[in-house]
Amino acid sequence: MKYGRKRVLVTGGAGFLGSHLCERLLDDGCDVLCADNLFTGTKDNIAHLLGNPYFELMRHDVTFPLYVEVDEIYNLACPASPVHYQRDPVQTTKTSVHGAINMLGLAKRVGAKIFQASTSEVYGDPEVHPQTENYRGSVNPIGPRACYDEGKRCAETLFFDYWRQHGLRIKVARIFNTYGPRMHPDDGRVVSNFIVQALEGRPITLYGDGSQTRSFCFVDDLIEGFLRLMATGDDVTGPINIGNPREMTVRELAEMVVAMVGSKSGIVFQPLPADDPLQRRPDITLAKETLGWTPKVTLEEGLERTIAYFRARMQA
Ligand SMILES: NC(=O)c1ccc[n+]([C@@H]2O[C@H](COP(=O)([O-])OP(=O)(O)OC[C@H]3O[C@@H](n4cnc5c(N)ncnc54)[C@H](O)[C@@H]3O)[C@@H](O)[C@H]2O)c1
Repeated sequence: MKYGRKRVLVTGGAGFLGSHLCERLLDDGCDVLCADNLFTGTKDNIAHLLGNPYFELMRHDVTFPLYVEVDEIYNLACPASPVHYQRDPVQTTKTSVHGAINMLGLAKRVGAKIFQASTSEVYGDPEVHPQTENYRGSVNPIGPRACYDEGKRCAETLFFDYWRQHGLRIKVARIFNTYGPRMHPDDGRVVSNFIVQALEGRPITLYGDGSQTRSFCFVDDLIEGFLRLMATGDDVTGPINIGNPREMTVRELAEMVVAMVGSKSGIVFQPLPADDPLQRRPDITLAKETLGWTPKVTLEEGLERTIAYFRARMQA
């Protein structure tokens, strides 16, 4: 490590999760390089960091190689919501697969430790509930979500092959639904969708009958999990689930958001999209045991903070 500060590369650092990670790493005294092609990320997400001399934004597409000197890499670059990743599915797979190859190549060259933002989508529409890390998943390889799900699965394969073949220090996190300030207002994810619809007094859109379940982790809890995983010894590789095990139906969430916003929005039902998982809840036993990590922010508190963010954004 040069100059006493840890040099950390965050790919996808101008996105929702990436911007919170950059902020937290700067608070912890790191020298942060954010590499992002601004496909779904924005300069607004990191505008407040640009004046910090230890923060640097580089417009870069991870499907091309990158040559920088860093000690740690967090590989987050990849559109995360179906509307975004299905817009250019070939580019989504390239981002996951070529992006992983390029970042792993960089980690190998400079001897950096590397973290992969994998996803609960590797479990597909799960037959095992809640999902533990040794469940191998049920993914449709030719469906409209496959560009993302299979791209992320292949990225995990590459991480473990670099670990086995080249002895790379890898950390693979399987992230479950996360929400919080700086989510995209129009990316079709339930939390942001419901909040924006409720704030605008429009009907809340529920897909299917709303009985499908999800569990939601507040972004600050998730980032704490990332840092704890990165700080583990070389024997810890993951994959490790990071998410909030409190499970609820999407309908319950809709009703909660409407009540908290104080909105008069009603509910409209639309057909369930193809391959939409019916239930989703992480088993976080491994994260508890390995990282001493559990989520701390209640859904009520997290929604309060997220609603406040969207309210301020709409009034700006
Ligand atoms: N938010 C969640 O609930 C969730 C759940 C599971 C996994 N993840 C993973 O976490 C990571 C971050 O997700 P997010 O919610 O912040 O999404 P996001 O879309 O806000 O952020 C992704 C970032 O990656 C950038 N990007 C996309 N393609 C790129 C490319 N080719 N080169 C460089 N940058 C590129 C985007 O511009 C954006 O800034 C993603 O890898 C995602 O798959 C997120």
